[in-house]
Amino acid sequence: MNIILLGPPGAGKGTQARHLVDTRDMIQLSTGDMLREAKDSGTEMGNKVAEVMARGDLVTDDIVIGLIREKLEGDSKGGFIFDGFPRTLAQADALADLMESTGQTLDAVIEMQVDDAALVERITGRYTCGECGEVYHNVTKRPKVEGVCDNCGASNMKQRADDNEESLRQRLMEYYKKTSPLIGYYYAKGQLHTVDGLADIDDVRASIASVLD
Ligand code: AP5
Repeated sequence: MNIILLGPPGAGKGTQARHLVDTRDMIQLSTGDMLREAKDSGTEMGNKVAEVMARGDLVTDDIVIGLIREKLEGDSKGGFIFDGFPRTLAQADALADLMESTGQTLDAVIEMQVDDAALVERITGRYTCGECGEVYHNVTKRPKVEGVCDNCGASNMKQRADDNEESLRQRLMEYYKKTSPLIGYYYAKGQLHTVDGLADIDDVRASIASVLD
């Protein structure tokens, strides 16, 4: 089964995708994670995208489509979770073409609805384990031992460079201008499902499970 998790920054896409990887043997394709890896590698492309991401703007379609194309050629295990992709109509069209050319289908698009005030709280309070990528929040999801990852035991918590109010405002602007038209696009294709992303993490998990099952 191949699905898209669609929603603004902080909607909980990454949190839910990691759970689906653990429980359903699916593969998370997060273009944000791929771009951060490219950024850390210090390549020419990485340096180019670093500034764009720090400002909260979208990286060009050709770069992200190229990243996804490479991944779709690999093993799909329990299916792909597209997390943060597509983000423009051009990316959505490219994904449809790529799926068709690799003989795969898109089974569901799950829109996670969260209001803007909650997004600001979630993003400014988020930190992640620098070793395994487990996501935490300074109010709603703290590790059992302060500073130590519950998942891998490392003591290397990090905050993303774009997780500040100024970048978040721009990321939200980009979402409403360029990504939100995808809601109508997938509704018209009969693929859209909506879940309440404001609910507790476990309740959001259950809503997504009921769509998938
Ligand atoms: P990306 O990394 O994709 O970031 P994003 O879409 O802004 O989403 P986030 O990762 O910030 O949030 P999330 O929805 O995954 O929330 P999370 O689960 O962490 O993109 C970053 C940048 O890369 C973009 O700005 C752009 O520049 C570039 N980029 C990426 N893809 C691109 C593309 N396709 N095209 C062009 N450019 C691209 O949760 C957030 C916090 O909330 C956590 O602390 C978590 O613990 C907490 N939380 C989660 N769920 C709940 C809940 N139900 N209740 C309470 N707290 C919760």
